[in-house]
Amino acid sequence: MRRLNLALGERSYPILIGGGLLTRADLILPYLRAPRVALVSNETVAPLYLKGHVEALEKVGIGATPIILPDGEAYKNWESLNLIYDSLLAERCDRSTTIVALGGGVIGDLAGFAAATYQRGVPFIQIPTTLLSQVDSSVGGKTGINHPRGKNMIGAFWQPKLVLADTDTLKTLPDRELSSGMAEVIKYGLIRDLPFLDWLEANMESLMARDGAALAYAIERSCANKAEVVAADEYETASEGGRALLNLGHTFGHAIETGLGYGQWLHGEAVAAGTMMAVDLSRRLGWLTAADRNRVSALLQRAGLPVKGADLGAARYLDLMSHDKKVVAGSLRLILLKSMGNAVTYADAPREEIIAAIESSSRG
Ligand code: NAD
Ligand code: GLY
Repeated sequence: MRRLNLALGERSYPILIGGGLLTRADLILPYLRAPRVALVSNETVAPLYLKGHVEALEKVGIGATPIILPDGEAYKNWESLNLIYDSLLAERCDRSTTIVALGGGVIGDLAGFAAATYQRGVPFIQIPTTLLSQVDSSVGGKTGINHPRGKNMIGAFWQPKLVLADTDTLKTLPDRELSSGMAEVIKYGLIRDLPFLDWLEANMESLMARDGAALAYAIERSCANKAEVVAADEYETASEGGRALLNLGHTFGHAIETGLGYGQWLHGEAVAAGTMMAVDLSRRLGWLTAADRNRVSALLQRAGLPVKGADLGAARYLDLMSHDKKVVAGSLRLILLKSMGNAVTYADAPREEIIAAIESSSRG
C-alpha cells in the first residue's frame, strides 16, 4: 500500500493507494466519530462492490446505510442531492454519521456536497473507484453539483478525513472511462511535472493495458502533485498560479460538457479536447512550438482521447466560457502553458486568438 498525506494543518488526511483496500475496514475505523456510515454509491458500482465492502465494515462493527443513486453525470444535480438528504433523515443519521462515497467523481462530488451541508457538515470519506476519481476528484475537497447553465456551479469545499483508492476496482472500469481518467493524469505532467510527462510517454501502452504497477505509480504521482498544489492554495485564491492551474483545458472542456448536455462527452474527453485548445492558444502566443502541440496531441491520442472539441461554434464556446468560475470581474483567466511542464493563469489572450484556437481544435 502506498501512503501520501495532504497537509492541511488539523484537516490533514491520508491518501491510501493499493489493491484490496475495499475490504480493509480496519483502515477506516480510526477515522469515524461513531461506528456508523452512510454509504453513497450508484446503480453500476453498488452491484460490483457494495456487498463486499459492507461485509468488511460489519466485521469490525461498523453499521452501513446504503444510499444508491442513478448513474451518470446528468444526475449530478439537486434531485440526487435530495435523495441523499431524504435517506439520511429517514435513517435518522446524526452528526456522528460519516458519509462515505463509493464510486467515481460524480458520486464523490455529490456525497461530498451532502456531507458539507447535512446538519451543517458531517465527516466524509472518499473511496474512489474510477481512474479519474483516484487521481483527481477524491483529493482536495471540491464538492458540488452541476447547474443547467454551468458545470460544478453549486458546491462547497469540504475535505474528506481519508481517501482510500483500491486499484483493483479499475479492473472493471470500461475502456472509455480509463481513457477519461488518463486526461487528468496527463494534465499533471503538462502543468508542473515534465519528468512525469516523459514517463507517461514511455509507459502509456502499459497503462492502457492496465498494468497494475504502472497504474499504481501513475495514481501515486498524480495524487502527490495534486496534494502539493492543494496544500499551497486550498481555496484557489492565489492571484497567480496556485490551484487554478489544475484546470488546464477545463474552461474549454466545461463548455463542451455544458453545451452538449451533461454526459454526452465524458469529463476527461472534454478536458482532453480543451487541453488541445489551451495548447494551441499557447502556441499562438509564442510560448509553445508546433512540435510541443504535436507531442501533446500524440500522447492524448495514445490514451484513446479526442483531440478535437465538439463543433459548437466559437461564439457558443465563448458564451459558455463566460460563466466559468475563473471569470473574475468580467475577465476570463485561462490556464495556458508558458512552456511544457509550466502552466500559468493568463487573462490577456486576444479574443481573436482564443477564437482561432477553438476553431482549429474543434470538429467542423
Ligand atoms: P463517473 O463518476 O460518472 O464514473 C464513470 C462511470 O464509471 C460511471 O458510469 C460509473 O458508474 C462507472 N464506474 C465507477 N467505478 C467503476 C468501476 N470500478 N467499474 C466499473 N464502472 C465503474 O465519472 P468520473 O470520471 O469518475 O468523474 C467525473 C466527475 O468528476 C465529473 O462530474 C467531474 O466534474 C468531477 N471532477 C471533480 C473534481 C473535483 O476536484 N471534485 C475533479 C475532477 C473531476
Ligand atoms: N480538479 C481541480 C481541483 O481540484 O482544483
